[in-house]
Amino acid sequence: MVDSDVPPAVELRHITKKFPGVVANSDVNLIVRRGTVHAIVGENGAGKSTLMKTLYGMHKPEEGTIGIDGEIVTLASPADAISLGIGMVHQHFQLADNLTVLENVVLGDEPTRAGWLDFKAARTRINEIAEQYGLEVDPDVLVEELGVGDRQRVEILKVLYRGARTLILDEPTAVLVPQEVDELFDALRELKDEGLAIIFISHKLDEVLKVADEITVIRRGTTVASVLPSQVTSKQLAELMVGSELPTPQTHESTVTDVAELRLDGVSLMSDAGRPLLRDVSFVIHRGEVLGIAGVEGNGQAELVETVMGMRTPTSGTVALAGEDITGWSTRRRRENGIAYIPEDRNRHGLLMEASLWANRMLGHQTMAPNSRGPFIDRKGARADTQRIVESYDVRTPSIDVLASSLSGGNQQKLIVGREMSGRPTVLIAAHPTRGVDVGAQAAIWGLLRDARRQGLAVLLISADLDELIGLSDSIKVILRGRFVADADPQHVTPEQLGSAMTGAGGQ
Ligand SMILES: Nc1ncnc2c1ncn2[C@@H]1O[C@H](COP(=O)(O)OP(=O)(O)O)[C@@H](O)[C@H]1O
Ligand SMILES: [Mg+2]
Repeated sequence: MVDSDVPPAVELRHITKKFPGVVANSDVNLIVRRGTVHAIVGENGAGKSTLMKTLYGMHKPEEGTIGIDGEIVTLASPADAISLGIGMVHQHFQLADNLTVLENVVLGDEPTRAGWLDFKAARTRINEIAEQYGLEVDPDVLVEELGVGDRQRVEILKVLYRGARTLILDEPTAVLVPQEVDELFDALRELKDEGLAIIFISHKLDEVLKVADEITVIRRGTTVASVLPSQVTSKQLAELMVGSELPTPQTHESTVTDVAELRLDGVSLMSDAGRPLLRDVSFVIHRGEVLGIAGVEGNGQAELVETVMGMRTPTSGTVALAGEDITGWSTRRRRENGIAYIPEDRNRHGLLMEASLWANRMLGHQTMAPNSRGPFIDRKGARADTQRIVESYDVRTPSIDVLASSLSGGNQQKLIVGREMSGRPTVLIAAHPTRGVDVGAQAAIWGLLRDARRQGLAVLLISADLDELIGLSDSIKVILRGRFVADADPQHVTPEQLGSAMTGAGGQ
């Protein structure tokens, strides 16, 4: 497929891009050939998105050159990049929910005939593109009715509709279940066979090894290696990414006891509009046990966590902590009585980004030692304890007085775990604890969860990372439309089997 006479689709040379206080890319080199899938891998914050935004005309590099199909170009905006055949699907989708697929695809590039929008021509073209690459979606359905996999197809269609010959996909699989990933990869193979160049960003290395023809590794803003998948194992790739050796999530000598710590019985929850969010949910988590919840996002996981934390009151059913009915308790009382919480969204629920680390140490724990003595805030106690957390949880920070926002995602998460573990909890609710953190911090957080289990905590683990769920859980329940639809044994279940159960394909 690769023809050495054809100039590379993309040739980046010595690219440097700085933001105030951060060198996001430094002396980056990248060559992407037509007819290939070129994967870019690197830890969170390594500079992948910045590089792609530079290639897409969103950032202007301080140094370096951008070559497209053999010509050195200057890109003042995405419009310039689009006119040169570059298309980008961003990490966060940018579709208008209240418009149809067709309207979204043509938005900003409306076809006209004698001044009128020619939707008929547009529809024909969309159908042609969709069929050619196996990206079928109904052009007339509203985007808000589509699942994540279909939305992504619409984004790709939109880019192809504008004539892209080089397609950038920024972490496209982060939001997909395994079956959808396979479908995406099929489409990518079709596209490269048509001579497109595909730039595929991911930090899931098994996927990268499956789909990529070439792999470039970025570490701390610079390209450290370009390799062929046949030349490396996923472990070697991971080590290139972090520059050192790594552990895996696997646990497994059981520490499960028969002491029930957290119990839900027949919990149902309705939305204000009367829509069922949770339906008859029951489980028991024992001391020393990790219960994993698998599910496609938006199937009740967040509501389940909020119900356990007392942010929502179930319409029926009970929540019990160590045998005591706590259904009516406030969130604060639950925390004071031993439920720790690592929230899904660090920015919204976990940390006050514009406050110092030690102020964050007190957040949600103001009423407990060492942050208070009687009715008083104990500033000194809180500071000393923050220092302890920073040291024992390996939070990389210059001091405890910096703002939380200045830490990397992984270090923010370690601070939260440290804070939550400090109240001597008996139950730990961990919602996507390693989402968006780099592989080094991920390994550290896995270690902390394993320690929690060993110390006898009952852990409820919600995660979209199926390897993480399988690696850390003692048992797994699958949630679909607010109901548990399957139980899985992590010793034997595969991610594919979980994926089937999550989408209801397992006969549910
Ligand atoms: N618009 C921006 N302003 C300031 N800093 C940024 C901006 N975009 C990214 N950064 C910083 O640049 C670095 C690289 O980020 P990014 O390219 O998003 O990494 P990746 O996509 O590999 O996770 C990070 O330290 C990030 O905080
Ligand atoms: Mg990124």
